[in-house]
Amino acid sequence: MHRLFAAAAFAAGVGAAGAEQPRDFETAFSTAAQQEEPGFQGFDAGRGREFFNTTHGGDWSCSSCHTDNPAAAGKHAVTGKTIQPMAPAANAERFTKAAKVEKWFTRNCRDVVKRVCTAREKGDVIAYLLSVKP
Ligand code: HEC
Repeated sequence: MHRLFAAAAFAAGVGAAGAEQPRDFETAFSTAAQQEEPGFQGFDAGRGREFFNTTHGGDWSCSSCHTDNPAAAGKHAVTGKTIQPMAPAANAERFTKAAKVEKWFTRNCRDVVKRVCTAREKGDVIAYLLSVKP
C-alpha cells in the first residue's frame, strides 16, 4: 500500500515539468507520510541526520558508504568505489530523477534497515541532505 501511495504522489506531484528537483521529492514524500502516519508533523533534518548516521541493528549505516559528511564524496563499504556527494548543494544531480531515487532508497534501506524506509524516513533524510552546505 505504501508503495502505491508513493507512486501516486510521484505521479501527481513530480515529473509533469520534466526534471525533478529535491523539493519535489520532499513534497511527494510529505503527501505519502500524511497517508501513512496520522498526526504526521513534517520532516526534521535533525532526525534525518540521526537516521543517516545510525546502524539500525545491522553492520551498516547510510554513512558507511555515503560518509557522515554528505557534502563529501563517499566510498562503497564493499567495492571501495567512489560515490559522489549526497548533498544537492554539492552534487546537482542528486534527487533529480524519480526512478533513481526510488531504486536506491529501496535497495539501501533493505541493506541497512532490513526493510523499505517509510515516507517520513525518506523525507527526513532529504530534509537533512538539503540542509548540508558544502
Ligand atoms: C553499501 C553501500 C551503501 C549504503 C550502506 C547506502 N548507500 Fe545509498 N547509494 C549507494 C550507491 C552505490 C548509490 C548509487 C551511486 C550514486 O548514486 O552515486 C547510492 C545512491 C543513493 C541514493 C540516490 C540519490 C540520487 O538521487 O542520486 C539515495 C537516495 C541513497 N543512496 C540513500 C541511502 C540511504 C537513505 C541509506 C541508508 C538507509 C544509504 N543510501 C545507504 C551505496 C550505499
